[in-house]
Amino acid sequence: MNKISQLISLLGGTGFVAERLKIQPSAISNWKKLNKIPSGKREAILELSSHLDINIEDFLPNKIFHDIKVKMLLIICGGIASYKSLEIIRLIKKTDIELDVVMTKSAQKFITPMLVTSLNEKKCFTDLFSIEDETKMNHIKLARKPDIILVAPATANIMAKLANGLADDLASTILLASFSKIILAPSMNPIMWSNLATRENHKKLLDRGIEFIEPNTGDMACGEKGTGRLQEPKLIVEYILSYICKNQYLENQFKDISILITAGPTIENIDPIRFVSNKSSGKQGFAIASELTRRGAKVTLITGPVNIPFPNCESVIKVTTAQEMFDSVTQRLPTDVLICSAAVADWKFIPKTSSNKKIDINNKIKKDNKNLLFETKQNPDILGTIAKSNLRPKIVIGFSAETNNIKKNAHSKLISKNVDLIIANDVSNDKVFGGDFNKVCLIDKNNCEEWEKQSKNSVAFNLANKINDLLTNFNQ
Ligand SMILES: Cc1cc2nc3c(=O)[nH]c(=O)nc-3n(C[C@H](O)[C@H](O)[C@H](O)COP(=O)(O)O)c2cc1C
Repeated sequence: MNKISQLISLLGGTGFVAERLKIQPSAISNWKKLNKIPSGKREAILELSSHLDINIEDFLPNKIFHDIKVKMLLIICGGIASYKSLEIIRLIKKTDIELDVVMTKSAQKFITPMLVTSLNEKKCFTDLFSIEDETKMNHIKLARKPDIILVAPATANIMAKLANGLADDLASTILLASFSKIILAPSMNPIMWSNLATRENHKKLLDRGIEFIEPNTGDMACGEKGTGRLQEPKLIVEYILSYICKNQYLENQFKDISILITAGPTIENIDPIRFVSNKSSGKQGFAIASELTRRGAKVTLITGPVNIPFPNCESVIKVTTAQEMFDSVTQRLPTDVLICSAAVADWKFIPKTSSNKKIDINNKIKKDNKNLLFETKQNPDILGTIAKSNLRPKIVIGFSAETNNIKKNAHSKLISKNVDLIIANDVSNDKVFGGDFNKVCLIDKNNCEEWEKQSKNSVAFNLANKINDLLTNFNQ
């Protein structure tokens, strides 16, 4: 019996697994024959196995997840649980994950770099100011190379340093200079864990998207009882494997799907130096573009003038006025999904005198122009026009920034513009525009889902899941 056959029978047999995964039993029989699970089904299999007491060591040596090439950096900090990181290294070595290890100075008081080096069969890094390593800018290389940085055990000290941007040794400098996914597995005395400073650092790090493998509750090495024990190495490694599978699955979720996103404000010029605009920063639309790109979508982002870095999506088109944004969107149709998150100026402002005389807008309007008035001219309605056109994308999503009657106004917009989903937010408190957090309400024809306040990145993550559901329903 090969390993996949063993795994399937441990999970309850071909019929049970097929039913739980909603696929034909013949597909499972095929996996057993090939001794391989397709990458798209790995997350589901991992989820099924997470409810059972299965020893992953029985499966890891055969490298079920063999076509996933992941680089990981393990940072070992100095605490009573430092020795448990040796077991983490041993388990990771049984997978295909490429592992590098960094130890803090304090960690070296508990276990030696020599032990780590021989276990990992690779040099263990300890020093920021190593002439030998720094000829190759090693601290930046170590920060950029891994897909995942696992800090285990993570001390109260490293949490405080990371939360406050301190970089006074190799470990903290790498953490600050990295774009990688950071996962912390803390371990400390329960009073240290519950200390207000640690609580605040924990919250700050969670808000920045850092993940935690939360510590256990029980008897501590110091004789006290409470929360602060490092999770078991086996569970930490399972968490990492599950994260990798989930990520691998997500990276292909929107493969071959084209998505057009508008973001930021638009600007309507009055004369060569003056304009009318709004407070949109573009952060929410950019976060959505990043998340959908990460999940494999071909994203075109059409943005008004903003002051934030561009996401790494297929293309970014810069526009200024509402008309330019409209033209740019329509030129790029058809697309599978359209997300209009830009705060488009509803009107152009045309200066004139009270006696209806035209003013030359190619030159700066002079202050002595006492009878200045502005005529308003409606800009094109990007969302409504495209949602009602014969080039309508499969899914059309609009944003609705409101200051009152939020749900009612958003619902009317949903119906009158023929869109699938409106994401409404209350912008009356002046904290949404430009901020990193958002509190939104998702309105479709049948439901109104209120989401709790969360970071704009988290809204983007959850919205990507919602778009996946909408596309699945559309294709059924
Ligand atoms: C015997 C001993 C055990 C310790 N255990 C822990 C611990 O489990 N968790 C923790 O946060 N700090 C612990 N500390 C304190 C850390 O070693 C200390 O805060 C150190 O500065 C951490 O450095 P690092 O974060 O650079 O590894 C311990 C100290 C000693 C002497």
